[in-house]
This record gives sequence, structure tokens and C-alpha cells, in this order.
Amino acid sequence: MSEAVSYELVGNIGIVSVNNPPVNALAQVVRAGILEAITIAQNDASEAIVLCCEGRTFIAGADITEFGKPPKEPGLPAALSAIENSSKPVIAAIHGTALGGGFEVALACHYRCAIASAKVGLPEVKLGLLPGAGGTQRVPRIAGVKAALDMITSGNPVAAKKALDMGLVDEVLSGDDVRSGAIQYAKGLVESGASLKRIRDITIDSAAIEPGFFDSARKQLVKRARGQIAQDKIVSCIEAAVNLPMDEGLERERELFKELVTSSESAAMRHIFFAERLAAKIKGLPRDTPVRDIKKVAIIGGGTMGGGIAMCFANVGIPVVMLEINDEALERGMHIIRKNYTITVQKGKLPADQMEQRIGLITGTTNYEDIGDVDLVIEAVFENLELKKEIFAKLDGVCKQGAILATNTSYQDVDAIAAATSRPQDVVGMHFFSPANVMKLLENVRGEKTADDVVATAMSIGKKIGKVCALSGVCYGFIGNRMLGGYGREAQMLLMDGCTPAQVDGSLERFGMAMGPLAMSDLAGLDVGYKARQGRTDLPDDPKLYRMGTLLVEMGRHGQKTGSGFYKYDPETRRRLSDPEVESMIKEEAAKLDLEQRDIGDDEILARCFYPLINEAALILEEGIAQRPSDIDVVYVFGYAFPVAKGGPMHYADQVGLKNVYDKICEFRDLYGEQYWKPAPLLKQLAEEGSTFAEWGAKNG
Ligand code: 3HC
Ligand code: NAI
Repeated sequence: MSEAVSYELVGNIGIVSVNNPPVNALAQVVRAGILEAITIAQNDASEAIVLCCEGRTFIAGADITEFGKPPKEPGLPAALSAIENSSKPVIAAIHGTALGGGFEVALACHYRCAIASAKVGLPEVKLGLLPGAGGTQRVPRIAGVKAALDMITSGNPVAAKKALDMGLVDEVLSGDDVRSGAIQYAKGLVESGASLKRIRDITIDSAAIEPGFFDSARKQLVKRARGQIAQDKIVSCIEAAVNLPMDEGLERERELFKELVTSSESAAMRHIFFAERLAAKIKGLPRDTPVRDIKKVAIIGGGTMGGGIAMCFANVGIPVVMLEINDEALERGMHIIRKNYTITVQKGKLPADQMEQRIGLITGTTNYEDIGDVDLVIEAVFENLELKKEIFAKLDGVCKQGAILATNTSYQDVDAIAAATSRPQDVVGMHFFSPANVMKLLENVRGEKTADDVVATAMSIGKKIGKVCALSGVCYGFIGNRMLGGYGREAQMLLMDGCTPAQVDGSLERFGMAMGPLAMSDLAGLDVGYKARQGRTDLPDDPKLYRMGTLLVEMGRHGQKTGSGFYKYDPETRRRLSDPEVESMIKEEAAKLDLEQRDIGDDEILARCFYPLINEAALILEEGIAQRPSDIDVVYVFGYAFPVAKGGPMHYADQVGLKNVYDKICEFRDLYGEQYWKPAPLLKQLAEEGSTFAEWGAKNG
């Protein structure tokens, strides 16, 4: 037997047990072991076979690290055929998560039982793939075409009870002991003379599918998928399940799976899967670094960010005290929290009683004495260093020893804030993204004196509240916002050179950004950037620089909140509309500055906007602000909606080729000046070596 799979006979039940930590992925040893165990069981005294797993979960899918490498026999289809063709019923015993290839193993079994806490799902789409071992053919046969399409194109797991209702599992076991529960269930099946139920034998009634169903599904998915190609192919597979016999459907699925597994989109998405997990690891800090217990949290400032952050903790059952300047501000903050929860309830995503429970966990105060006992404070007041220092000095006075004092500042110096206390080792940045209860990224900022266990706690509590965490060092804007500087600048420079706002945003949106930079500035408020620029002395004295952003603010066009900015907004639908007034103004301003306006294509727009961002990232890596290139990708995908199918800016740069990026930056430097375009030494070095950020990360990360 393979070392990852064991087989034993318990009474009349054969038990195949998979043990391949951490998640029982279907590595070659597991596939070979299952095949062998099922073969042995055909010739022994067993009357039914239970397939279960050791450790924390049922098989969580194919081994993702094997993709892109030469295939090793036996393949998964061989193991699944052995299961399906077994002369004795095979029962999948599910605990934890049966995902991807793991759930496909279960679907090849004749019966599926699960404990109540288990989940099943086909998340391949999140890796730019489709289920490649029969998932697209078997799920529509047992759950129906519409449910299969929703499940496979969303990739979201389904909890056991719902899976039972959908027909995905046959039995929800009582108790937590999956192995003994499954043995009992198997014995019952034997006693009742249960048949060998094979999903492949079910035929789908194609007449029940509305005409045009698949075409309209495709249209809807294209909108949602933003540059991801898997969705369309999933629809084709499910269409095949309806129209073709099982074996031909499986063949079609295999063919399309193979196309996807070699695609650049899937490579990028697999890169992000591992990058996300790597980002949680702190260089030099052992995995078992003790973390501080966080049982109660205080938030200082209940505005846009504070309210959202409070919700994140209440959502996982951690009580929060929200401190504001006065009762009126407090009431406003609490009102917004209630409004946000109400919207979630209205969308059917949260039961009303749970909303009340969560709101009940958030209390308000205007008195610092009320937060003396909390384990973690997150400050989210106005972006003003002096105010933040004042608040941290107060926190130092009232908070218990060992409490973690965090700031949500976007740009300010975490070390200066820490220095306002007598306990800089307890101070850390926890930079959430707006809306804080929705956005996945949490950029934790390690100050010069932040203690290791404080960093470890910030990362672990971030995971607990459902965030993807990345660690940054201290610098202006940390990883994400610092890189954004050149991106926003060039978006506006392109207007002076001949683009309309819709052209700039359109190029970036076609690339896959959720929103182009100018529309994004309109959303955030043009006055925010305007005010930030007022205080800066480091900007070149250049009339072109941010010219449109500045003029629009001075005209009272602050973006969406005033109904107009780079665009105008339909007052009813809030849809953005090109504004001829802005477009002629751009031309007039360019003429005043004697600038020649020209036609600019997508390639230049992408290069002008993304290459400054990539160049800044190279500086960030050299300075040790980010731990590794892949952390930067995580920041951009989860915090700035960079398309996951492009793998983040570092992965994208590697695909373009660092020499191409470097050469283009040099070309722009010669055209537009070194004050804007100065190649980072690391970028130059890697370009000259013919190397990539990924290779540099593997050596230095
Ligand atoms: N292959 C290889 N490694 C995997 C893996 C997989 N399918 N799933 C998880 N891992 C690794 C992770 O990289 C991580 O490694 P690390 O400790 O070195 O960082 C470790 O297992 C633990 O993973 P998590 O940190 O994610 O553990 P959690 O407990 O938070 O989550 C999980 C467990 C829900 C199973 C989550 O890991 C997960 O969602 N895994 C991926 C599931 C998936 O996408 N399956 C489909 C694969 S594609 C497929 O099956 C194709 C088929 O149709 C042919
Ligand atoms: P906001 O203006 O919406 O809220 C700030 C809140 O702080 C207000 O409700 C105000 O009454 C309160 N406040 C001010 N002084 C206070 C004091 N002394 N004690 C208690 N409460 C006080 O601001 P927003 O947008 O929530 O930003 C807060 C912080 O979060 C800033 O540092 C900002 O840079 C940062 N941030 C903002 C993001 C955004 O997109 N808005 C994103 C990430 C970080």
C-alpha cells in the first residue's frame, strides 16, 4: 500500500483511509493508494467500502503543486473508474471540506455521507480551472443544471445540510465521528441490500432546459468574470452533460480542463493561491510564535473606516467598544453600521436575528475610561499625525498592559505614533481597506519597535476576521498606497497627452481592473488627493502635473459625491457618463501649455499607468518594506482589485518581461523626464540578468 493510504477490514466493512497532511490533496501517492485499496477490497470479505480521511479534512482537491509538471500515473480518472466500477458499494465519508478533485472522488462513490459541519464544493474556478474529474458531468445529474452551474461557476462550498437538500450527499450523520458514523451508515446500506447507485446512470431531461438558457448564462458570466476564461468553458461542459452521453461529456470536460491548466490565467490564479498563504508567514518568526488573546476590541473613531472595522469583529463574535468625540458622532456611526447590516439582510445574506446579535456586540462610548480592559485598540480617526499622537498618548494612559495599540492610518509614520506612547513594542499598523467590512486585504505594518508577538497577533486576528493579511514596513503609504502614486499621476498625465477619461479607464478596465483610476478618484473624492497635495513639498513644479484633478476640484467637481468630477453622474442611477465639458477643457488646458495631443493606444496607457507602480514596487522590495514580491501581488489583488487572472503587478511584470518593462521606463524617462521616470536599481539589475521578480523572491523571500 502507498504510505498515504491505508486499508483495513472492520467486520464486513472495508475502510480506505487517506492520510496526506495537511489537506489530503490528491498527490500521486494518494491516487495510487486509493486505486490499490479499492482493488484489494474487491476480493476480500468486505460487503461495502468506506472511503474516509485522517486529519482535519476530507480530500481538499488535486495537488495544486503538481499542475504544470509532467503527469504521473495513475491519473485521477483511473482511481475514479475503480471506485465507480467497484462490485461493492463505496461510501464517501466526508468531514472538513470535500473540494475539487476531492468532491469528485466522493461523486464517483455510490453513496456520500457527511457530518453536519462538513462542506462540499468545486472551487476550481477560483484557480482559473474547471472540475476535471467528472464534476461538471455528475453534479448536474444529481443537483440539476441550474444548481450545478451556480455551484461550479461561483466555486463556493455548500454546507452539509444544504448539500443534502440539493442531492449532493445522501446522508448527514449525527455526531462528529465521521468514521464510526460512516461505518454504521454502510452497515445499514448492506442490510437493506442497497444498490450500486452510479451517478453516471442518471439521464438529464434536456427538454426541461429553457431554450437560450446557456447563452444567457454565458452573457451574465462574462460580466462577472473580468478576464477569466474558465466560466465560459464551465458552461460548455454543463451543456455537454445535457447533450452528450456520459463518456463523451467526460472527454469534453478533460479536453477543456487541459486547455485551462496550461493557460496564463490559471497560472496567475494558482500563483495568487500560494502567494496568499505565503503572505501570512513572517520571515524570521516561527509559525508557533505565541499570539495575544483578543477577547475585546476598541475602535477609536466611528466614521467610514471605524464602523466597518467594528463590523468585522462583531461578525466573528468579538465584542467591540466604539469611541467617538461626542454622542452625535457616535449615533451617526452606529446608524451607518445598522444601515450596512440592514442592506446585507435585505440581500438575503444574513438572517435578521443575527444582525441584531452582531449589532448587540457593538457598544458606544465617548469616555476613554470605558476601554481600559480591551485587548486590542484600532484607531481610525482623521488622517492627522498630531491628532493620532495625542490619541495614542491617551491610550497609553488608560489601556491595560499588554493591550495592542493599532492605527489604521493610510500614510502616517507608525514609528512616530508609537513614540507618543511608553510602549512602542505594542504599537502596530493595521491598515484596512474601504469598505472595511467588505474588502479582503489587511495590510499590517510593523514599526521599528513592534514586538514579534504583536505582529503575529495582528496577522492571526486578521485571518480570524476573514482578511487576507500582508505585512509592510513603515514608509509613506506602506506597500499599496505608496505604489499608487505614479499610477494616479500618469492617468492624469495621459489626459494632457490626448486621452479622454473614458479612454484611460476603459483600457485599464479591459485589462481587468474593477474600476479605472480616474473613476476611482471620482469615487474616493478628488478633494482628498487635492488636499494631500497641498501639504507636499516634494512634487515637481510642473503645470501639467495633476492639472485636471486640481482644476476640477476648484470648480467644485469633487467626484461622485458632488455629482461630477472626471465624469458626470446620473443623479438617479449614479451611472458614470462621459462629460463633453471635461473633454473640451482637457483640450483647452493642453493648448494653453502648448502640449501636443495625440492618439494613444491601450498598450501605452497600460505601460504608462502600471510601470511606475511596478518600478515603485522594486524600490519597496530593495528597501525591505515588503517581505517578498508575491506579498505585493496579494496587496494589489485583495486591496486594489487588480485582476486575479493577471496574478498581481509583480507576476504581470514577469510575464511582460522585466527587460521590456525596464526598456519602456527608460524610453519614458527620455521623453518625460527623470523626475517621473527613474528606473529602480533592482529592476535594472533583474532586467540585465534576464531574471524575474519570482526568481528574486525565491532567493530572497
Ligand atoms: N494542493 C496542494 N496544497 C494545498 C492544497 C491543494 N489542493 N490545498 C491546500 N494546500 C496547502 C496550502 O498551500 C497550505 O500550505 P502551507 O501550510 O505550506 O501554506 C496548506 O495546504 C494548508 O492550507 P490552508 O492554509 O489554506 O488551510 P485552511 O485550513 O485555511 O484551508 C482548505 C483548507 C479549505 C482546504 C484550503 O486549503 C483550500 O481551499 N484549498 C484548495 C482547495 C481547492 O482549490 N481544491 C481544488 C483543487 S483543483 C482540482 O481539484 C482539480 C480537479 O478538478 C481535477
Ligand atoms: P472619517 O472622517 O469617515 O471618520 C473619522 C472619524 O473619527 C469621525 O467619525 C470623527 O468623528 C472621529 N474622530 C475624530 N477625532 C476623534 C477623536 N479625537 N476621538 C474619537 N473619534 C474621533 O475618516 P475615515 O475615512 O474613516 O478615515 C479614518 C482613518 O482611516 C484615517 O486615518 C484614514 O487615512 C484611514 N483610512 C481611510 C480609508 C478610506 O478609504 N476612507 C482607507 C484606509 C484607511
